[in-house]
Amino acid sequence: MASARRIGILTAGGDSPGLNAAIRGIGKAAIGHYGMDVIGFRDGFRGLAEDRSMRLNRRLSGILTVGGTILGTSRDKPHRMLVDGEVMDMTGAVVRTYEKHRLDALVCLGGGGTAKNALRLVRAGLNVITLPKTIDNDVVLTDATFGFATALDVATDALDRLHSTAHSHHRIIVCEIMGHRAGWLTLGAGIAGGADVILIPEIPYTVESIAEAISRRVRAGSNFSIVAVAEGARNPEDAQAFAAAEARKRAASTPEEIQASVGVLAAVEAAHEGNTLRLATQLEALTGLESRVTILGYVQRGGTPSAADRLLATRLGSAGADLISEGVFGVMVAARGDGTEPVPLEQVAGKRKPVPPDHPWVLAARHVGTCLGD
Ligand code: F6P
Repeated sequence: MASARRIGILTAGGDSPGLNAAIRGIGKAAIGHYGMDVIGFRDGFRGLAEDRSMRLNRRLSGILTVGGTILGTSRDKPHRMLVDGEVMDMTGAVVRTYEKHRLDALVCLGGGGTAKNALRLVRAGLNVITLPKTIDNDVVLTDATFGFATALDVATDALDRLHSTAHSHHRIIVCEIMGHRAGWLTLGAGIAGGADVILIPEIPYTVESIAEAISRRVRAGSNFSIVAVAEGARNPEDAQAFAAAEARKRAASTPEEIQASVGVLAAVEAAHEGNTLRLATQLEALTGLESRVTILGYVQRGGTPSAADRLLATRLGSAGADLISEGVFGVMVAARGDGTEPVPLEQVAGKRKPVPPDHPWVLAARHVGTCLGD
């Protein structure tokens, strides 16, 4: 008999293909294999704070292939939630909901930020595990996150389609790809989609070096180019300003320092808006080739999860149910090779996994002649 009888599930942060597959994976394993009850909480940590719950036992069929999350999601944090226009610490309310439903464990599906919030709840005395979800693939200590494979397929397909129109019109097409502060999605799609230039946050670029690569292509007879640019890619000066703002935020300890550092970071982020359009204009001026921009945006996150994501989400979910039945809490269920591994939340919370500049994907891109902007 399982020691845990009732578990809660929530999805937090940006939605991602595979969330429903993961809810189904953990839910079916918990109910069918371990005889537990499963309660869903709507809209991330807000649903837990405000007790927006639904029994999931009969709602897990038919959702494997469905995009988004049947639970809804939000970026709310338990300890800093906007309630009636005021920022409040709702940790106490979250604990009360957990106790009211007599939960033995809570499963949070999310990325590094969700792991940080989950750890706060562990410290408040709850039994919590997380599953790594994000299209950005930037969660540490897991081989992969679900959502990434689908977004990679979508972004690659977009680059394939942009090739034929760029080629026909002899244009540069600059395609902006998501990924937050990491370049995994742009690098992966850029390689798979044969982008001529790939720009990622981890490798600051200069417009001159990109223009030179494009002009070299023109001289060699290819009068079009595809530039895959990550939303967080920057030139060296902007990258330095961004790193300094981030370091200031990390170092801030008093409420005044934290508030000021958040303001500085927001200003740096705001200055970055429109960067892809500016880049295209600059490349047009430097190369003489007409330029166009495509911003892929939320299309990368929506829709049916790929087979790879359904498989990953299902095996992480089912492994999560195993850990709960064994009484293992305070961990993220990481993908490790064909298996899974529990990783302490302390080692994941608030951390990010950038692309190492000497990563094999970077080297492969360079070896096939792709310009990385440096
Ligand atoms: O983390 C997933 C992600 O899609 C990032 O790639 C992107 O920067 C961000 O979320 C967008 O956030 P929001 O949904 O809040 O606009």
